[in-house]
Amino acid sequence: MIIFKRVVQSPIHIRAKRCLSSRASGILSALNISLDKDIEGVYDGEWKGSGDIIESSCPATGEVLARVKTASPAEVLEALAKTREAYLHFRNVPAPRRGEVLRQIREGLASKREELGALVTLEMGKIRTEGVGEVQEFIDICDYALGLSRMMNGRVIASERPGHSILEVPNPLGVVGVLSAFNFPVAVYGWNLALSLTAGNATIWKPSPTTPLTSIAITSIIAQVLKNNNLPGAIAGLVTGGQQVGEAVVRSTDVELISFTGSERVGRIVGQTVVSRFGKSILELGGNNASIVMPDADLSLAVPGVFFGAVGTAGQRCTSTRRLFLHRQIASDFLERLQKLYGSLKPGDPLEHNTLLGPMHTREAVNLYANTVSHLRSIDADILSGGEIYSLPSPFDGGNFVRPTIAIPKSVNMKDRIWSTETFAPILNVAVFEDLEEAIGWNNAVPQGLSSSLWTRDMRNLGKWIGPSGSDAGIVNVNAGTSGAEIGASFGGNKSTGWGREAGGDSWSQYVRWSACTINFSNEAPLAQGVNFNND
Ligand code: UN1
Repeated sequence: MIIFKRVVQSPIHIRAKRCLSSRASGILSALNISLDKDIEGVYDGEWKGSGDIIESSCPATGEVLARVKTASPAEVLEALAKTREAYLHFRNVPAPRRGEVLRQIREGLASKREELGALVTLEMGKIRTEGVGEVQEFIDICDYALGLSRMMNGRVIASERPGHSILEVPNPLGVVGVLSAFNFPVAVYGWNLALSLTAGNATIWKPSPTTPLTSIAITSIIAQVLKNNNLPGAIAGLVTGGQQVGEAVVRSTDVELISFTGSERVGRIVGQTVVSRFGKSILELGGNNASIVMPDADLSLAVPGVFFGAVGTAGQRCTSTRRLFLHRQIASDFLERLQKLYGSLKPGDPLEHNTLLGPMHTREAVNLYANTVSHLRSIDADILSGGEIYSLPSPFDGGNFVRPTIAIPKSVNMKDRIWSTETFAPILNVAVFEDLEEAIGWNNAVPQGLSSSLWTRDMRNLGKWIGPSGSDAGIVNVNAGTSGAEIGASFGGNKSTGWGREAGGDSWSQYVRWSACTINFSNEAPLAQGVNFNND
């Protein structure tokens, strides 16, 4: 989901900045973000930025938080060159030493966990506990990668030839380009940075143009650690900007691996561009995630689980629950309980600790929500809850608040647009099924395959769900919602979600260059497969 904000350069914005609310100024100054001048949005060992200006604004109030100087085309090329130079140095630093650098980054993040979490809330709009949770996710992956720095093991393989051994050796890969989305402006970069750095690579980050301040605050912390360790800053470079900046990184033959998070539409272009230059890519694209509730499920777990999955982050996680399949026996009971929870929701300041519903990230996202709701109405769907855009009193009158929606479309044909398209908004479409096979069929019938969850207490359902005739998604949960994965397992989805895997599991092995090394320590030179290549 990459959406560009319109930039209007007028004195009004300067005035708006001078009058920055205390709500915003406290958070920005706690992270040393300048309140009174344009902010440099490029880091390659030095801070700079002479490209277009982008504005960062607060989704809860509409207030302009800052103006950021993005990367000019020449600055992107320069940052790419410095990143490669940094890699050539860093690849020779021993992996456990790289792990120590990560440990220090972890400490830097942990010391500002609350402040960074508040900045995510201010700039992205998610509620505070989720903003802080996202910083925690970066801290967690640093812990993971620190351990990994002593465990990126290769293998010794038995050779068919006497006096020979075969090794599989992981070496650093090169430069990793990370293009991240607005909805997880910290964690997704964190997954990539931590693994890339442990593996001995240098990283260049192109964040979403609507969350530049978060990326600047994170990069400042990392830059300080690199400086303290006399390492080149371009090991963790930053280029803020729009589409052209992203394209330059994606096209560069100096970037071995592109890790892209965003829409299926843009992901298709990124994937094709990278493959056409024989680069590697990790794609994390659309999700269209379903929860299935069986008649034997514990509804006291399932109802709040679905509620968080559908409404958490105002429906703006890749892993958000968008489709809900209820067994006929429990459907009305379940919906009654779910509607009660929806009814208790109040939109409010996402910085306040008791708010559960924050704003959508942009006006465009509100329009997307409104268009999908009118489409639901046009196809005679039952709208059980929601469907409206909120207008709140000042200072939230400029905010992007919408009422989370539950709808029952008439059709259960998963090929219909309402089911087959990911709408990045808090809209939950419900269908009623008769047996598990039917529900699994619906789960698998859409193009995307990120996350899925089954609510049951019956072992036989569980076995089917996680087996060969079960869910075809990358994340297949039981009695846990579709969203909120931990970092320990690899994260990612199948089919049009892009097949990418990030974070834990064996994702790290994509960030290294594997070599198969046959070593002959004998006095003979036999050929494999018994081939005889001499004529005596
Ligand atoms: C995303 O929405 O792009 O599993 C990432 C989750 C989070 C990560 C989501 N840990 O919901």
